[in-house]
Amino acid sequence: MVIVNEREKVFHLYNERISYLFYVMESGQLGHLYFGKALNPKGSYLHMVEKAHRPMSTYINEGDLYTSYEHLRQEYPCYGTSDYRYPALEVQGGDGSRLCKLEYQEYEITKGKKPIPGLPAVYVEDDREASTLEILMRDTWRNLDVIFSYTIFKEIDAIARSVRFVNCGQEVLMINRAMSMSVDMPDADYESIQLSGSWSRERHVKVRSLEPGITAVSSLRGNSSHQHNPFLALKRKDTTECSGDAYGFSLVYSGNFLAQAEVDNYNVLRVMLGINPFGFQWKLGPGEEFATPEAVMVYSKDGLNGMSLQFHRLYRSRLARGYWRDRERPVLINNWEATQFNYVEADLLRFAGKAKECGIELVVLDDGWFGARNNDKSGLGDWKANREKLPDGIEGLSEKIEALGMKFGLWFEPEMVNKDSDFFRNHPDYMIQTPGRSASHGRNQFVLDFSRKEVVDAVYEQMYDLLSNAKISYIKWDMNRSVSECYSSAYPADRQGEIFHRYILGVYDLHERLLQAFPRLLIESCASGGGRFDAGMLYYAPQGWVSDDSDAIERLKIQYGTSFVYPLSCMGAHVSACPNEQVGRNTPIETRGNVALTGAFGYELDLNQLNCKEIEIVKRQVEFYKSHRNMIAFGDFYRLQSPFEGNFAAWEIVRPDADMAIVTVTRVLSEINGPYRRLPLCGLSKSRKYHVKSKYLSYDAYGDELMQYGMMLEDRSSGQAMDDSGCCQDFLSVLYEVTAIE
Ligand code: DGJ
Repeated sequence: MVIVNEREKVFHLYNERISYLFYVMESGQLGHLYFGKALNPKGSYLHMVEKAHRPMSTYINEGDLYTSYEHLRQEYPCYGTSDYRYPALEVQGGDGSRLCKLEYQEYEITKGKKPIPGLPAVYVEDDREASTLEILMRDTWRNLDVIFSYTIFKEIDAIARSVRFVNCGQEVLMINRAMSMSVDMPDADYESIQLSGSWSRERHVKVRSLEPGITAVSSLRGNSSHQHNPFLALKRKDTTECSGDAYGFSLVYSGNFLAQAEVDNYNVLRVMLGINPFGFQWKLGPGEEFATPEAVMVYSKDGLNGMSLQFHRLYRSRLARGYWRDRERPVLINNWEATQFNYVEADLLRFAGKAKECGIELVVLDDGWFGARNNDKSGLGDWKANREKLPDGIEGLSEKIEALGMKFGLWFEPEMVNKDSDFFRNHPDYMIQTPGRSASHGRNQFVLDFSRKEVVDAVYEQMYDLLSNAKISYIKWDMNRSVSECYSSAYPADRQGEIFHRYILGVYDLHERLLQAFPRLLIESCASGGGRFDAGMLYYAPQGWVSDDSDAIERLKIQYGTSFVYPLSCMGAHVSACPNEQVGRNTPIETRGNVALTGAFGYELDLNQLNCKEIEIVKRQVEFYKSHRNMIAFGDFYRLQSPFEGNFAAWEIVRPDADMAIVTVTRVLSEINGPYRRLPLCGLSKSRKYHVKSKYLSYDAYGDELMQYGMMLEDRSSGQAMDDSGCCQDFLSVLYEVTAIE
């Protein structure tokens, strides 16, 4: 998977579908050659270097009017010489100079992949799955070693990159900017896709044409954020969901990030991804090391669905890990929207009893169970049961739930504290704040300084105590505000630029310690819904609460956007009550079910409030999920129709053996006597015959027909379904089962 042309010093990472090429320039820096569809691995590629005499440039060698970094496509550009685009690296020495020059030293190819200590990263289970190329670069003037790591997978069309820095000298160095990856693409005729939004409106798909200058998304909030996801895709203008070039760049990180595409004056495109350099500075003392988070680059010739399939395969099988990775997830019910903070144990047992009757497997107790937590002004930090609400504590409640034949899950917000809590009264210095300045709150709460081990230890002890004494199978790990006034009293002035990153390392450390102690614990990540829904969290929490917006129609866009990178196995999706808590909308319970069924399925309402007909539907939904959850979580997912482009949203899940597909088609507003509609499917076997079944349709067709001509859609507004006449047909969702019969 890695070929080195020793004479030309060209490195070629490839599998049967993708190639990635770079070379060592005369100056010793690395130049980028190619990333895309697989190229013949035997060739010579140096003719790809484009170089011309460009007037009014700055050139690195005296007497030579050609060689300027401004005009060379680079692999990891450093600040300070003749390249005026944004660099991947900026290092400052004791002399104040910020110039850095990396020269190639040697390479090493190993089978498999090494972990990155303290950071989430994709991995292999067998060394034959991937090969890793490490390139040692050195700035001899600064005594700085820089190791670029590239891992290419055999069966997945992804390359994982990260960079490690080792200060081999005596001088203290300051890393001001260290991106995880950078790539200079030969042209910029792409559209960029970002997943952006806000609280309850996360990861909407935004497409922009690239223009000269910068297109970027980022976070400075300490969490990856509701606003932008650490991800950027590139597509040609004619790329569709199913065909054409598509590139995806995803950062395996949960803190401040920058994803940037820069188009220069020669239409060269520089894409980079990494920790946001703004506010970041890492002091690298003699002998010290620093590792960047990992970036994953995917290429597909099969359009955006092709790109997403690669991310899904990699992230659900070689980023998510542990006991729950390949296991079917329990159908859960969460009490938050049903009760908020107002409940006592008897309410919860009634709530759980009805859930059991419907076949639900896991009861999750959300916020409000601990300390003096009767509203959001107090209690965070005191992870002990509120005995007025729960007389037998979490131990007693969890036993009673288990006695009903269900598992029990519990909400925590480990990184936060209310000033009105014993934890804060005992440790007022444990929160993040800048001395002498006022501290901003979010939802009346403050952020604990997770850059300090003793703070993480204090939270760990409380959680460990509870998890070892009560029967807790699952935790929902919430995080309801971003970091502000970032400063840690435990670190000196010249290390304050490290705090945001150290905070996230502390968050990862607490996850890791809990998983080491309780390997069968299922963690669902959450940050006011999807405020930290990123690949970093997926390493610890194989599922995450996609959004606080549980309205099925809003969820169409949110889940559609989320699917660009993240697999269905990790998308927490629940049926909630109507009118919906966030938008006040009434939608049919079938629609709410259909949208939530294509995720890590659950309920977010009090089933005791539903009528008999609705309870029967709930039972059927639970049964359907149980019998199809394996293919839903681990099958191939295809977006078929975008809710951003019209009145319909449609997606499909296909079993890897193409034996069966589930297709969900949701129409937002009703239409009358509309056109005949067909939906071309994906991923079926062309020559096999399938049976298509929905509420009103039942017919047989071959795979090639269903993929070319399309699957015919039922349309109740055309008069097909007289039994539903009179009902509101807005927000109608139909689930089609497509089953191979030959
Ligand atoms: C925000 C989460 O996203 C909700 O699901 C719920 O857990 C609340 N926090 C509880 O405070």
